Parts: sequence; C-alpha cells; structure tokens
Amino acid sequence: MILAFTVISAFGFLMVGLMVSSVVGDYLIAEKTKDKQQEVVMLSGQISTLFYDQDAAQLQELLTKKADELNGRFVVLDNSGLVQSDSFALLNAQEIDTSEIQQILSGSTGSAYGFHQMDVVVDGKTTKQWVIYYAVPIVYDTQRIGVLFYSSSIQDVIDKVAQIGYRLLLVFIFVTIIVFLLCYEFAKWTTKPIANMTEAIYEMSKGKFNMRVRSSGTNEMKQLANTFNMMSEKMENFDRLRNEFVSNASHELKTPLSSMKILVESILYQEEMDKEITTEFLQDINSEIDRMSAVISDLLILVQIDQNDTLLKKEKVSLNDLIRQSAHSLSPIVQKKDIIINLTATEEVFAYVDKIKMSQAIYNLIENAIKYSEEGIVTIALKKTPESVFITISDTGIGIPQEDLTHVFERFYRVDKARARGTGGTGLGLSIVQRIMFLHGGKITLTSKEGEGSTFVLELPANDSELNKQ
Ligand SMILES: Nc1ncnc2c1ncn2[C@@H]1O[C@H](COP(=O)(O)OP(=O)(O)O)[C@@H](O)[C@H]1O
Ligand SMILES: [Mg+2]
Repeated sequence: MILAFTVISAFGFLMVGLMVSSVVGDYLIAEKTKDKQQEVVMLSGQISTLFYDQDAAQLQELLTKKADELNGRFVVLDNSGLVQSDSFALLNAQEIDTSEIQQILSGSTGSAYGFHQMDVVVDGKTTKQWVIYYAVPIVYDTQRIGVLFYSSSIQDVIDKVAQIGYRLLLVFIFVTIIVFLLCYEFAKWTTKPIANMTEAIYEMSKGKFNMRVRSSGTNEMKQLANTFNMMSEKMENFDRLRNEFVSNASHELKTPLSSMKILVESILYQEEMDKEITTEFLQDINSEIDRMSAVISDLLILVQIDQNDTLLKKEKVSLNDLIRQSAHSLSPIVQKKDIIINLTATEEVFAYVDKIKMSQAIYNLIENAIKYSEEGIVTIALKKTPESVFITISDTGIGIPQEDLTHVFERFYRVDKARARGTGGTGLGLSIVQRIMFLHGGKITLTSKEGEGSTFVLELPANDSELNKQ
C-alpha cells in the first residue's frame, strides 16, 4: 500500500519535473536565439552592398567585428554555396553544406536555423558542444546574391538546462524519500492499533485475560479499543470468579474429607477404643458426609441454574402453598428452638414461576431465618401490586454486620465461618436464591441490623397476562 502510494506520487513528481525542465529549457533557448536571429538578419542587410561591390576587405572586417560582438562565427557564401568570407578566415572558397544553407539556397526567403552537436576544441581538448546555425539570404535589389551563415555555441544554455534538470532530479529524489517516510509513518499510525489489538487477542486466546490495549488512532479505532478493553476486563473478572469458585468448591469438599480421614484413622488404629467414643466418631463422620452431600447438592443446583439459557418450567403457583410447604419441612429445626413462624398473608397470591426453583428459593430464605435466630419470630408476608409480587421474610435473629451485607450473596461467603460449620451451611444458599430470582426476571434485596434481625424481600414480575391464561 505504502509502496503503491509512493510510486504513484513519485511518478507524478517526475512528470511535473520533466515538464518544468523542458518548458524552462525551451524558454532559455528561445530567449537566446531570438536576439541572435535579429542580429543576423540585420547584418545581412548591412553587408549586402559590400558583398555586391565585392569589397572583400571591408566585408571581412565587419564580419570579424560582429562575430566578436556576438561571440560566434559569420560566414558569407555565394549562391553556389562557396565561402566568400569567413570571420575565422579559415574556410574561404570552400563549400559548406548544412541543411540551413541548403534551405536558403533552394529559395527560402525567411531565415533558417537548427541545432547541431559537434566536436569543438577548447584549450586543446575536444568536447562535444551544442551549436546553433542560422542562415539568411543576402538580398540586393530584391535579388538573392548570397547567404549569410552564422554559428554560435549554445552549450552554456544547454548546461544551464541540464543543471536545472539535475536540481529537479535532486528535489525529486528528496521529495520521494519524504513522501515514502510520511506514508510509512501514516500507515504505522493507522495500522499500529490494529497490530496491538491482534497481539492482545492472540495473548488472550492463550488465556492471558489481563490484556488491555491503548486507545489511539482514529475514532473508530478508539471505540474498538475501548470495547475490547471492556470485554477483556469482563473476561478477566469472569476468569477470576471461576478460579475462585473452583478453589472454594475444592476446599469445601476437602475439609469434610480430611476430618473424616482423621476420624476413620482414629477408629482403625486405636486399639481397644471405647464403644461410646467409636459411636461418637461415627456420628461425626456421618455429619461430615451430610455436609459433603449438602455442598454437592448445592453445587449441582448452581451448575444447573448457572447457564443463561436455563429453561424454567413456569406455571401458575400459589405462593401461600409454597411457603406453607417450606415451613412444614423445616418444622423439625423450628421445634428445637424457641421460634414462631408467622405467615401474614390475608389472601392467596399466585405467581407464574418454576415451582421447584421458586420453592428452593423460599426454602433457603426461611431456613436462613431459622438458622440464624436463637429465638423470636420469623414473619413471612405476601403482597401483590399490579406490576409485582413481593415475598418478605424477616427474622429477629443475629442479623448481618453492615460490611458483610454486599458479600452474603457471593458463593461460599459466610459471615461467621466457625459458626457456619456448626450450622452446616454451605454458603451457597443466597447465591442460589439470587440466581433463581434473576432467571425469573425478579430480584432480591436485603436489609439487616446486627443483633436485631434481617429482612429479605423477593420481588417477582406479576405476569398477570400469563396467570389469567391458566
Ligand atoms: N437471616 C439471616 N440472618 C443472619 N445472617 C444471615 C441470614 N441469612 C444469611 N445470613 C448470612 O449470610 C451467609 C450466607 O448465607 P447462605 O448463602 O444461605 O449460606 P449458608 O449456607 O451459610 O446459610 C450466612 O452464612 C450467614 O452468615
Ligand atoms: Mg443458607
């Protein structure tokens, strides 16, 4: 591309250069010849009487003088082409046969001229020089009586033209180099962002997600760079979350396994262990198995709902029923504590949702409300507006510290890790709820005060049109 552009512009410059030098050359030569031509025509008039009168001495004198003045050579020939007088006094009585003389002798009345290259001896050295020849008729009484021939070197003009051409050539080379460099820089400027981005994409394809490109070049390039950076940032984030998730999940599974191994080894290698202690150890192993199984089922649920195109089996569901069922299945743990569950719905509220997933979400929230309260009331309220359905689950439990409020929805996040092991939490419950709400086009919000209790609100689109169809 650069080369093509350079060649085209170089060709343009070359053309212009050639034209300029030829115009200047023509002009200089024309200037030089015009004056001389007039002089020669004038002289032919002056010498016509002298020549007619055969005044050879005076003729020779005049020719020599004029030749010196004009820095050339005058020769007078008779009608048969024989030299009668020569300002150099060399060619007398000889024949000269140039095309210009021929032209006059064959009857041309104007003046004839032409350019010739010939060997000239200057300071003992022979050089080729350009000369101009003129031939004009010598007229006496309207009759041509001879020819005045003039020759003069125009090498100085030719040299000047050559010099101009040479300078133009230098300018041409210089301009070509500049054009090439400019093109090269310009191409670099326009293609560099693309090259950078290609490099970044290549690196990214190898798993380096922290690649960012500089936003430079044209507006479109800047926009492309910004979009690329946005994408790579997202991918980096995504990659980090995935790594965290894998390492957290492995950790969550490894911990109960390690405990189990210690317990099993104790039972295996301790001789004469108390029956009671053995039973206790086996119970511990049993609860570790429960824990592992809980983590694995939560992970399975997460994997299942993690795809953006997860299919929901939506149907008309009574939320009152879902809440009652969850509360019922949680009654064994409620009974162990001093807790009352209170459903304050006055009317039946329906929602167009995936029954199993929605029930999972409600169960998780009621379970949390019970798990994180020692005593008190868990209140569940249902409310419907034309746009939305609200399920509010509040407790009077331990609450969540301010700084943890934004984190509790993260996977494996637990406010009190030590305590969580006792309560058997996986830290996945709230992220599952949040994901289920997202899939339903709803959301979950949380307000809580440490030591006073927490309130979780689920908001779902009312979806009345779908409900009325059912
Ligand atoms: N109702 C609540 N009251 C106090 N803390 C809560 C409540 N619900 C959730 N949390 C806190 O948020 C953390 C994350 O909850 P969740 O994702 O359900 O995991 P877990 O398996 O621990 O219950 C819990 O470990 C707990 O610290
Ligand atoms: Mg939970």
